[in-house]
Amino acid sequence: MPSGYKRSVGLWLMVCGVGVIRPIGQISQIGRIRATDPQTFNKDTLPVALAGGVRLCRFTVMKRNLVILGSTGSIGRNAVWVARNLGQELHVAGIAAQRSLKLLAEQAAELRCEWAGAADAEGARELRAILPSGCRAVAGEAGLIEMVTAPSVDIVLCAIVGTAGLKPVLAAIRAGKTIALASKEILVMAGELVMAEARKNNVRILPVDSEHSAVFQCLEGQRPESLRRIILTASGGPFRTRPAGSLAGITAAEALAHPTWNMGRKVTIDSATLMNKGLEMIEARWLFDVPQERIDVVIHPQSIVHSLVEFADGSVLAQMGRPDMRLPIQYALTWPHRRPLPLEPLDLVKAGHLDFEAPDPRRFPALTLARRALDAGGTMPAVYNAANEAAVARFLTGTLSFPGIWETVAAVMDRHTPVAYAGLPQILKADAWARAAVAG
Ligand SMILES: NC(=O)c1ccc[n+]([C@@H]2O[C@H](COP(=O)([O-])OP(=O)(O)OC[C@H]3O[C@@H](n4cnc5c(N)ncnc54)[C@H](OP(=O)(O)O)[C@@H]3O)[C@@H](O)[C@H]2O)c1
Repeated sequence: MPSGYKRSVGLWLMVCGVGVIRPIGQISQIGRIRATDPQTFNKDTLPVALAGGVRLCRFTVMKRNLVILGSTGSIGRNAVWVARNLGQELHVAGIAAQRSLKLLAEQAAELRCEWAGAADAEGARELRAILPSGCRAVAGEAGLIEMVTAPSVDIVLCAIVGTAGLKPVLAAIRAGKTIALASKEILVMAGELVMAEARKNNVRILPVDSEHSAVFQCLEGQRPESLRRIILTASGGPFRTRPAGSLAGITAAEALAHPTWNMGRKVTIDSATLMNKGLEMIEARWLFDVPQERIDVVIHPQSIVHSLVEFADGSVLAQMGRPDMRLPIQYALTWPHRRPLPLEPLDLVKAGHLDFEAPDPRRFPALTLARRALDAGGTMPAVYNAANEAAVARFLTGTLSFPGIWETVAAVMDRHTPVAYAGLPQILKADAWARAAVAG
C-alpha cells in the first residue's frame, strides 16, 4: 500500500476515534474508556481512539456478526425478529438453545448461521441430523465458548435464562467481543468479576433489560459525577394489590399470567415475587457502578416509563415506550445508532395516566433481601440468585408455595457466610451450595 494512502487511512481512523471517544468517555461507568478529552491523547488513549475508529468503520460499512445464546426463548425470538429487521447490517452467525432443537434448526436455516449450539452432546447429535448444510452443531459450554470467541464474531447477545451463560460471556469478554446482556443472573452472580474483566479487555457491556437500557439511554451524554439516583420501575406483577393473607394460595398458572410483559417462565415468576426487581437492583449496581443506597424502586403498573435517572440538579430523565422488548434489544444491537423499528408508537393520550407507588416490603420482601445481599457482598448475591432460581423451579413443580420462594431464599442466605473478593471458583461453589440447600 503506498505510504501516503496508509497515512490518510490512519488519519481517517483517528478522526473516527476522536468522534466516538467523547460520547463514550462521558458514560465511562458503563464501559471501558476512561479518557474523555480528545486533547489528552497519549500512549494510553490513542490506541483506544484508533480501536473506536476501526469499530465505527466496521459498524458503518460491514455487516456485523452476532451470536444469540438462548435464541429460542422469549428474548431470543425477539432478537431474531430484530435481526430480520436489521437485515442489512447484522448477520446472525451463531445461535444456541437447550431443548427447542427443531426451532433452533429452523432459525439456523432461515438466518444461514454457521453454528448452532445445543446444551449437551446428545442434543448436538440430534441437531446434526436436522441442521442445514453449512451450519455446524456444537455442544455444551465448550461449544458455546468456541462459537462466541470465533474471530469473525463481533457481538454476543446472552439471553440464556439462569447462569449457564456466565462462562461463555466471560470467554467472549476475554476475546474482546461486545456483549449485549439480557441474562441478569450473570451480573447478579458475578458482577464485580464480569465488569472488571470488561474493563480490562476494553469491552462494552450493553444492557438489554428494559430498565437498564432506559437508565443507559438517560445517562448518554451525561457526566457520571452528575448522577444522583437511579430509579428502577417495576410493574408490581399480577399480585400487586393482593392482601398478604391470600399470597399462600397462589398457583403457578396465576403467577405465570403477567399483566403487561410477555416473558419466559422464570422471569415471569420473578416479576410476580419482585425478585426480578431485586436481581435488577444488583445488576444496576454493577452495570452503572452506583452504590445500592442510590438505587430506588418505584411501582409503575403501566410499564411505560422503563426507568429514570435523577441528576445532581434535581432534574429527572425518564425513558418511555410501549412494553416491548424488541426496542431495548435493537438499541443494544445498533448502539450508538437508532434504527427504525416498525412497532405501534406509544400513545400517551390512549395510556391516559401513569401511576407510581412505593413497593410494599412487608408483602414482598424480595427487595429487602436484595439490599441485604448487596450489603453482605462477596458471594451473597450469587446465593440470593441461585436460591431463588432453585426455589422458583420448586414452585413451578408445586413443591413450594408462592411466599415459600422468598422464605426459602431468606433461610438459605441466613446460613451462608459470604466470601469477600470472590473469584469464579468461589462464586460457582456458593451457587452450587445454595441450589443444594434449597433442594434440602
Ligand atoms: N423475557 C423478557 O422479557 C426478559 C426481559 C429482561 C431480561 N430477561 C432476562 O433474559 C434471560 C432470558 O429470559 P427469557 O424470558 O428469554 O427466558 P426463556 O424464554 O426461558 O428462554 C431461555 C433461553 O435459554 C435457552 N437455554 C437455557 N439453558 C441453556 C443452556 N444450558 N444452553 C443453551 N441455551 C440454554 C433456552 O433454550 P430452550 O428454548 O431450548 O429451553 C431458551 O432459548 C433471563 O435471564 C431473563 O431474566 C428477560
